[in-house]
Amino acid sequence: MTATIKTDEEIIKMRDAGQAAAELLSMLGTHVQPGISTDELNEICEEYTQNTLRATSAPLNYHGFPKSVCTSVNHVVCHGIPNDKKLKNGDIVNLDVTILKDGYHGDTSAMFAVGKPTVKAQRLMEVCREAMQIGLRMVAPGVRLGDIGHAIQEFSEAANYSVVREYCGHGIGSVFHEDPQVLHYGVRGTGMVLQPGMTFTIEPMLNIGKRHVKQLNDGWTVVTRDRSLSAQWEHTVLVTDTGYEILTLRQDEVI
Ligand code: MF3
Ligand code: CO
Ligand code: CO
Repeated sequence: MTATIKTDEEIIKMRDAGQAAAELLSMLGTHVQPGISTDELNEICEEYTQNTLRATSAPLNYHGFPKSVCTSVNHVVCHGIPNDKKLKNGDIVNLDVTILKDGYHGDTSAMFAVGKPTVKAQRLMEVCREAMQIGLRMVAPGVRLGDIGHAIQEFSEAANYSVVREYCGHGIGSVFHEDPQVLHYGVRGTGMVLQPGMTFTIEPMLNIGKRHVKQLNDGWTVVTRDRSLSAQWEHTVLVTDTGYEILTLRQDEVI
């Protein structure tokens, strides 16, 4: 497995794409409320991407994905396709956006509660965010991907959640998904050694029940086999000379 090392010029473009993705996700989140459909969120996403960000939605037509944003509700783990079903009070939804701007990608997702979440759902979302943060804070030259995967897994399983294995974080740049694969489980002291200039995502998926998932017949939607609730958070991160820079950090967001 090899990773591309971005030049200073490329890093400027990655920062720009990352900031556009962050702004899009913040904006989209303000529209999450009971009664809105995920199709409506998709339309808002596409309109803002084109007309305000002057950028492209990378998911649209990516390997045939039909929409501009992934919307994963309740027991949907990832890659949910927007549809005309309305969100209702107590649902939780992951919105996963990816912007392509000036040839570079920014990929980020977050959980949103529709109305008032249950205590169970709230805790799942919070622990999942913390799992992502634990991984992000470890990013630095010399650290190995197995160290990060191990830390995310250990924290998540200690909180009694399972970690999805079939999907992972990924290198990102001018290519949406490139090497390395960033697993959210693993063994300390193994895997790629991080170097300054690498850019990749950390995007753990945690389930309340068992870790096993299945893909629906639409070829995209991934759900928990036991129909338990699932959560995911994602950021795109740069390895700097001394640590990390979160390229998709939102205004007022603290890691
Ligand atoms: N944004 C997803 C990720 O984090 C990928 C979505 S691919 C799509 O890697 F085609 F479903 F949009
Ligand atoms: Co991603
Ligand atoms: Co994503």
